[in-house]
Amino acid sequence: MTTILGIESSCDETAAAVVTDGKVIASNIIASQIDLHAKYGGVFPEIASRAHIEAIGHVVESAIADAGVSVNKIDAIAVTRGPGLVGSLLVGINYAKGLALALDKPLLGINHLEGHVYSLWLTEAQREIVFPVLVLIVSGGHTELLLMTGHGEYTRLGGTLDDAAGEAFDKVGRMLGLPFPGGPNIERVALQGSATAFDFPRAKTDSSYDFSFSGLKTAVKREATVASTRQGDKDPVLRADVSVKDVAASFQKALVSTLVEKTARAAKEHKATEILMAGGVSANQALRQAMRAQTELPVRYPPLNLCTDNAAMIAAAGCFRYEAGLRDDLDMDVKPMWALNSKTYER
Ligand code: KG4
Ligand code: ZN
Repeated sequence: MTTILGIESSCDETAAAVVTDGKVIASNIIASQIDLHAKYGGVFPEIASRAHIEAIGHVVESAIADAGVSVNKIDAIAVTRGPGLVGSLLVGINYAKGLALALDKPLLGINHLEGHVYSLWLTEAQREIVFPVLVLIVSGGHTELLLMTGHGEYTRLGGTLDDAAGEAFDKVGRMLGLPFPGGPNIERVALQGSATAFDFPRAKTDSSYDFSFSGLKTAVKREATVASTRQGDKDPVLRADVSVKDVAASFQKALVSTLVEKTARAAKEHKATEILMAGGVSANQALRQAMRAQTELPVRYPPLNLCTDNAAMIAAAGCFRYEAGLRDDLDMDVKPMWALNSKTYER
């Protein structure tokens, strides 16, 4: 049995988890900073780093205690090395290094996006995955379309050229006066709106598997908000005659249909056996339903609590790397901009 302690601090969650054999969650602790950032309508990097420093010791201790394992039984420590906010990443990576040194355990630096991929391995029903699979990662920071041909083997087919899918949800949510984060709140109000009320644009991109969401965001702004006349106005003002529910539903439909169309087409072209979705936006029920309707392939996504950032997924990814004999040095650095492709782990 392989037991991995995972640590995640790339954005606004301080998280630690213990996972065995890359599949079974022994503990999964998440200290969310959403309340701290809500009043800014987005993640505030300075505040995030400070909150990670305050939380990390307690979060890691709780994960070990909750798992009921003695530290001797932990085979390795896996920590998110990037991509993410540099100050936040440093907190996790430095803590992990200290622990690896103190406990004399191997250290593994994990790509956060690979962590999201391995969240799919963390449920009983989803253990048998036959490669190649098509992976769509949709989160607050990323929109990535990958072909996964084996454990740790990725070919990047495309991604967003501007805003990430979750970022578009968050920005539009803010325009509509909805609480942060925008994604789940747009999904909630969209249930009562008409998805055909507005015909928002689906962006055309040069590369067939790239995405662009900034035009969609601008179109929502144009349709739903009052043109700002005063300089220095930060937040656009919602037009009085516009239905937030209809805008939310129509925006969600436009964004989801682009994601689904390109993902299904890529899966077909690359003869994938199934489609895996991960990341915060994969919690969206409209996306899940539309993806299932678009393809005959099995469509899998993590349980809701594993869609958003967590350390169980980092430990799961760490387990496959540990079992493959891979190790990182104690002097490894953070990688704030780190694409996921087959060369990810070359030093
Ligand atoms: O994966 P995640 O926790 O963080 C990153 O790695 O970025 O994703 C957070 C993002 C936020 O943008 C949030 O609005 C979005 O995921 N999100 C959703 C839903 N739940 C979370 N977007 C659409 N529908 C949801 N139900
Ligand atoms: Zn994430």
